Amino acid sequence: MLHCLTDSLVKHVLHACIRFGNMSARYIGFLCSFFLCVLSLAACSMKEEIKRIDEVKRERLLAEASRSENLTGEQIFIRSCNTCHPGGKKGPLAPRLDKLDDHFPSDLSLRTFLRSGKGIMPAQPQNVVSDKEMDSLINYLRGLNADLKAAAAR
Ligand code: HEC
Repeated sequence: MLHCLTDSLVKHVLHACIRFGNMSARYIGFLCSFFLCVLSLAACSMKEEIKRIDEVKRERLLAEASRSENLTGEQIFIRSCNTCHPGGKKGPLAPRLDKLDDHFPSDLSLRTFLRSGKGIMPAQPQNVVSDKEMDSLINYLRGLNADLKAAAAR
């Protein structure tokens, strides 16, 4: 019984081999290129899909960062202040930030100034800079003021 089964199996395989051998080379070539085509198409669309997913991920991260309530003072400074006050130094339109301690001795006065802005300097309302972030920004500005003063004294 088992012998018979393997026998017929071998016969089948042999038969298939013979049939395959009879196929014209052209036909085999066509089949191969067809499968290659399908494969590369699949790879292509997969690549597109990965690109699309990456874009969505990047957009979500950006949106999260802009909504974040947890940026440090330095991060906010780089995001919103550095273009005009590069590194706290004098910009083409904006003053050096080494006298803010004299001009705004209390944190409250500095906070009020930053919240409302002045002239071309944009206001920083609560929906852009949270209270917690404002505390951190003020802390950073005080440190920056001290650093700039120390650098000038050297
Ligand atoms: C579009 C440019 C611009 C941006 C952005 C900007 N500033 Fe200013 N900033 C100015 C200008 C101009 C002044 C001078 C305003 C005046 O007195 O008329 C100024 C003044 C200041 C002062 C007062 C300095 C002093 O000693 O009197 C501080 C402090 C300050 N900016 C901090 C910041 C911080 C912090 C940010 C980011 C949240 C920021 N600025 C973003 C242009 C800018």
